[in-house]
Amino acid sequence: MRRPFVVGNWKMNGSSASLTDAAAIAAHARTQPSVDVALCPPATLLTRMVDAVAGLPVGGQDCHEAAKGAFTGSIAASMLRDAGATLVIVGHSERRTLLGESDGLVQAKAMAALDAGLSVILCVGEPLEVRDAGEAEAYVLAQLAGSLPRDLAAMTGGEAQLAIAYEPIWAIGTGRTPSLEDIAAIHGAIRASLGDSGAAMRLLYGGSVNASNAADILALPDVDGALVGGASLTLDAFAPIIDAAALAPVTSD
Ligand code: PGA
Repeated sequence: MRRPFVVGNWKMNGSSASLTDAAAIAAHARTQPSVDVALCPPATLLTRMVDAVAGLPVGGQDCHEAAKGAFTGSIAASMLRDAGATLVIVGHSERRTLLGESDGLVQAKAMAALDAGLSVILCVGEPLEVRDAGEAEAYVLAQLAGSLPRDLAAMTGGEAQLAIAYEPIWAIGTGRTPSLEDIAAIHGAIRASLGDSGAAMRLLYGGSVNASNAADILALPDVDGALVGGASLTLDAFAPIIDAAALAPVTSD
């Protein structure tokens, strides 16, 4: 069974004062035990957030592909784990686009994170011109094939430790979302492309998920959860999305 999974990506937002919001979100998450909820704060808040949320999984927003070394400003997956993180986002489009992260680099990061014992949320998604050209599905599947950890099938429990987030770049932070049919089509194509490994893997949708659209999106058959940016920063915005996930039909593998 793939449990619903709702992840808040705080991006470069939040300060010490936001730990109160995190604690409130965690308290709400405990009222919906059928939903897995996690928060990915900026690295500066990670350790304190782990303490503030009392058991809610906390994750990083990126990690370096190397185990350690002279990489000023970077954080290794093992360091995230040591700081109390249990998961990490890799390949977010803001890093792919703004920092030029390639599929190969994202793959290396995902493998390093799994090696360090973190769960991974691997992001893929097309830019608007690709969507407009009718090539979104081929683009996303190619991106996924290039970014997925190698030998996934050989990794013990690796599939369950990996979630894929489909986030069309043009939907992130814009208030625009693809049609439900388009989301369903891409998620179905991703699931099919994963073969046997896909059955246990959770596929999240991300991009302008909010209280109004969450229920419809989360009810789609191959959507197992949501990666939420702006609407994850406060309890008022995030709680309805967690509640919507609790009501969504659970898909068995
Ligand atoms: P958004 O961001 O919900 O603010 O659109 C989603 C994301 O980038 O993960």
